[in-house]
Amino acid sequence: MGAEGNRVRDALNALFDERTAAPAAGADTGPREDLTLPGRAPWRGGLHPVRQVVDEICEIFRDLGFSRVAGPEVETAEYNFTKLNFPLDHPAADMHDTFYLGEGTLLRTHTSPMQARIMEAHAPPIRVVIPGTVYRRDPFDASHAPAFEQIEGLAVDEGVTFADFKATLALFVLRFFGPDAKTRFRPSYFPFTEPSAEVDVSCMICGGSGCSACKGTGWMEIMGAGMVHPNVFKHAGIDPERYTGYAFGMGPGRIAMLRYGITDIRLLYEGDVRFLGQFA
Ligand code: DAH
Repeated sequence: MGAEGNRVRDALNALFDERTAAPAAGADTGPREDLTLPGRAPWRGGLHPVRQVVDEICEIFRDLGFSRVAGPEVETAEYNFTKLNFPLDHPAADMHDTFYLGEGTLLRTHTSPMQARIMEAHAPPIRVVIPGTVYRRDPFDASHAPAFEQIEGLAVDEGVTFADFKATLALFVLRFFGPDAKTRFRPSYFPFTEPSAEVDVSCMICGGSGCSACKGTGWMEIMGAGMVHPNVFKHAGIDPERYTGYAFGMGPGRIAMLRYGITDIRLLYEGDVRFLGQFA
C-alpha cells in the first residue's frame, strides 16, 4: 500500500510541476480568469410578496380545517351577481365596475362566485378558502389596480353561528398579525351576507395609537364578511332552515401593503425585480 501511495504521489507531483512550470516565452498562457474562484449563483427568483401572503393565509386556514381551491376568472354575470343575491338592476351591482367580455360573460369582479359553485358541487359540511385574481375597471393609480388578488372563505354546516364566525376570524388575526393584534367588527352591507361586517385589525405599524398609515384611527380594514344570506343558499340548492354559514373576502395585496408599509400598489404589479427581490 505504501509503495502504491508513493507512486501516486510522485505521479501527481510530476503533473503539478508540469502545469505550474513558468510558460515558455510566447506560449499560450490560457485563460486569464481565476478558475479556482467559487462561482456566483444566479438569483433563481422568488415568490412574489402577495403570493407569500396568500400562502401564509391559506396555511393558517388549513390548520383550521379549510381546503384551498381555485375557480374560473372568466365568469358569468349569473354567478358573479345573480346567485349572490345581486339583482342585476339593483344599485348594489354598481359596487363593482365590471369588465364585460360579452353578453352575460365577464371577468369576475370578486372571488365570491366560488361560494355558489362550491355549494352547488358539494353538500355541507363545507370549509374552503379560494385565492385568486379578480378584475375591475379601475384606473391604475397608487391605490387601485385593474387586476388584484382576493381570498374568499366559506364555512357551511348545521349549527354554524355568528360566534363561530367571529371566533374563527379573530383567531386568524392573532395567528397572522401576532398575539397583540386586536380585531374589531363593524356593521356593513353586502347583498350575499346578512348580517354583514367589515373586519378591522389594530394598526400593524403603530399598534393602535394612530399614525399616518392608519390615518390616525389605530385600525386597518382587512376584509368584508358575514353570515351567508338565505337566498344564496336557496340559489345553490341548500336548505337555509337546516344549514347556516359564514363567508369572508380579503385582499392579500392590501394586507401585504399594510404589513410592509408599501404606499403605492403599482409597485406590486409592475414586475420590477429590484423591488420584488427584497421580499424573496
Ligand atoms: N366580495 C366582496 C368584495 O369583493 C368581499 C366580501 C364581502 C366577500 C363579504 C365575502 C363577504 O365573502 O362575506 O368586495
